[in-house]
Amino acid sequence: MRIEQLTYALGAELTGVNLADAVHDEGLFAEIRAALLKHRVLFVRDQEISRTEHVAFARRFGDLEDHPVAGSDPEHPGLVRIYRTPEQPNDRYENAWHSDATWRVAPQFGAVLRCIECPPVGGDTMWANMVLAYEKLPPRVKDEIAGLLARHSIEATFGSVMPIERRHALREQYPDAEHPVVRTHPETGEKILYVNVFTTHFTNYHTPERVRYGQDANPGASELLRYLISQAYIPEYQVRWRWKPNSVAIWDNSATQHYAVMDYPPCLRKMERAGIVGSKPF
Ligand code: SIN
Repeated sequence: MRIEQLTYALGAELTGVNLADAVHDEGLFAEIRAALLKHRVLFVRDQEISRTEHVAFARRFGDLEDHPVAGSDPEHPGLVRIYRTPEQPNDRYENAWHSDATWRVAPQFGAVLRCIECPPVGGDTMWANMVLAYEKLPPRVKDEIAGLLARHSIEATFGSVMPIERRHALREQYPDAEHPVVRTHPETGEKILYVNVFTTHFTNYHTPERVRYGQDANPGASELLRYLISQAYIPEYQVRWRWKPNSVAIWDNSATQHYAVMDYPPCLRKMERAGIVGSKPF
């Protein structure tokens, strides 16, 4: 297997490897896992693997989970279908920088996404390195956000297009999660800037050190949150991947955010994502 780094920020392309072989080959899997922790997102082309092999490979990293709104392949639980077809047209949730499922108490460790069909041009996906985004923050901002906590909500995102009763039922099932604004990577110990489109507000901002008058609270908190969320938009932290059928991306969901670019005319783009269960951020 060869590993070619794609940008200074993150991302590497693997060649000379079949992911299905890593299901049973301990050494190969260990090499891929180490490369993932180093490069944060890995790309592999020409993976003519079956859905069973896709799921089996992703399961090497941990258990898989379905998504409460996006449906999964009925024969392969844990394999979420991200299909844009004339029957299932545009979905606005794609155009936002995010880490998957941070509205969960224990958001995903990572994911393995395979392209089934894509437009000849367009429909790329971008990733941003949120370890680098934290590292590059000005020291005064690092001081300001140390110890801050924030809420992440499925209700305010996926739920917002639902009728009110369904939205409330979704919130009952998945109450907002609270996570540190700066989390620690569970394996590498690196610090990560951990706010994204699912983040609604800080929960412990309103203290005398930050808020002189009540009037300070809202502009202060929301401007800071907006600034932090916007760090993922910085090109120097990013990599962009052009899909072809049978291309695969494997990413570390703690350390990165991603953005599926919806620049293609309606509608054919079919992706399948195996999401790997993660742990509670600290
Ligand atoms: C995702 O947001 O997990 C899917 C990304 C993509 O469809 O490119």
